[in-house]
Amino acid sequence: MDTSAYPNWEHQIRAVGECEEHPPCWFVRHLTLTYPHYHIISFDKLDYCATLNNTRILDGRTNFTFEQGDITLPADVKRVLRKHKVDTIFHFAAQSHVDLSFGNSYQFTNTNVYGTHVLLESSREHGITRFIHISTDEVYGDVPIGAADLSETSLLAPTNPYSASKAAAEMMVSAYRKSFKLPLITVRSNNVYGPHQFPEKIIPKFIMLLQRSSKLLVHGDGSPTRRYVYAGDIVDALDTIFHRGDIGQIYNIASKDEISNTEICHKLLDIFGLPHLTSGDLEMRVQYTEDRPFNDQRYATDGSKLAALGWKQKTDFDDGLRTTVDWYRRFGEVWWGDISRVLTSFPVVEGTEIWTKEEHEALPSDDEGRLEEFYGEQEAPWTTGALNHLQNMQGAAKREDSVH
Ligand SMILES: NC(=O)c1ccc[n+]([C@@H]2O[C@H](COP(=O)([O-])OP(=O)(O)OC[C@H]3O[C@@H](n4cnc5c(N)ncnc54)[C@H](O)[C@@H]3O)[C@@H](O)[C@H]2O)c1
Repeated sequence: MDTSAYPNWEHQIRAVGECEEHPPCWFVRHLTLTYPHYHIISFDKLDYCATLNNTRILDGRTNFTFEQGDITLPADVKRVLRKHKVDTIFHFAAQSHVDLSFGNSYQFTNTNVYGTHVLLESSREHGITRFIHISTDEVYGDVPIGAADLSETSLLAPTNPYSASKAAAEMMVSAYRKSFKLPLITVRSNNVYGPHQFPEKIIPKFIMLLQRSSKLLVHGDGSPTRRYVYAGDIVDALDTIFHRGDIGQIYNIASKDEISNTEICHKLLDIFGLPHLTSGDLEMRVQYTEDRPFNDQRYATDGSKLAALGWKQKTDFDDGLRTTVDWYRRFGEVWWGDISRVLTSFPVVEGTEIWTKEEHEALPSDDEGRLEEFYGEQEAPWTTGALNHLQNMQGAAKREDSVH
């Protein structure tokens, strides 16, 4: 990207909820490495899905700082805004996994709605020049097969606790724009995929299941489709919106690649060189499980508003998928520590603890005590272990290289 168009920006940018998986960690790495004159502060609670491995490459960079904190705690937020004189916020932090929102919906409302409110109120008090709120195509709800793609002015009609919490957060954003003239932009993205994504989402989860020679666990009949954008393209889109977008606007990040869950199975089995063309082949590799309580058939958004700012999707789904598979084959088993429970159908998360559905059902019913215990924990317990494992692996790989 040509940076000469923005020569004098001295941003103290705070990317909230950046470390874990996706758009956040990719975008933080992009901003830090592309714009050395911006000071990037990554503020993240280090939730169950997060790992500092995703920004390890930035350690030692003078324009990068990591701050652990929780967006639902005003004191944490204000401390960081003041300490770093933050002038721009990218708000990614969320409970983002739809499956979990059916069982743990208070956590979704708390983080996604109340957390967003805390960020908005703290930004109002502190004063900022730009606040970019990351939302999702799911706020529009189900789009019937054959219906036209939805523009940014379409009605919001969320259908699950996750998407409802994201739509509610958008209402707070819109209110702060109207009431306090806060310089806000909202971004609604399609599904994101690529390296570094926590393997609870379908693509990395399926890759890791195949890597372990396990069956792919498909919810329902596998027919729902989603549109997918490669993480690198999301970074370009956010950079475009940041530097060229207009305050007060909403932008869809919309992909051309609409893929069903069954198609994902076929494509991955193909990349892994496993037969998948007969029903017998599929039975050996794919297991259909119960569906979500409700599952939107498809989302379909129109991206012409962002295209008018100059953004174009560059990564074709098949290419992006191959790159993603390569990454998970090398790092998927070590990046987050033990992911065995994450790879089961409908795992349950409490605090930073992950159970299989069966383990969770067998737990004692006194869940108040249990929840307190787990919510009290602040750290993802596997981060250090995963790093050690990774370093050992890299050491071993180097030794192997030097032998050959
Ligand atoms: N992944 C997708 O396909 C997708 C698609 C559209 C929109 N989005 C949106 O993009 C954003 C990022 O999504 P993701 O998939 O990377 O999410 P994720 O769940 O993988 O990561 C969320 C991050 O937020 C952090 N976090 C959670 N609660 C926090 C809190 N209270 N305080 C501070 N940090 C907290 C977590 O530690 C984690 O690093 C979300 O807002 C999501 O709604 C994601």
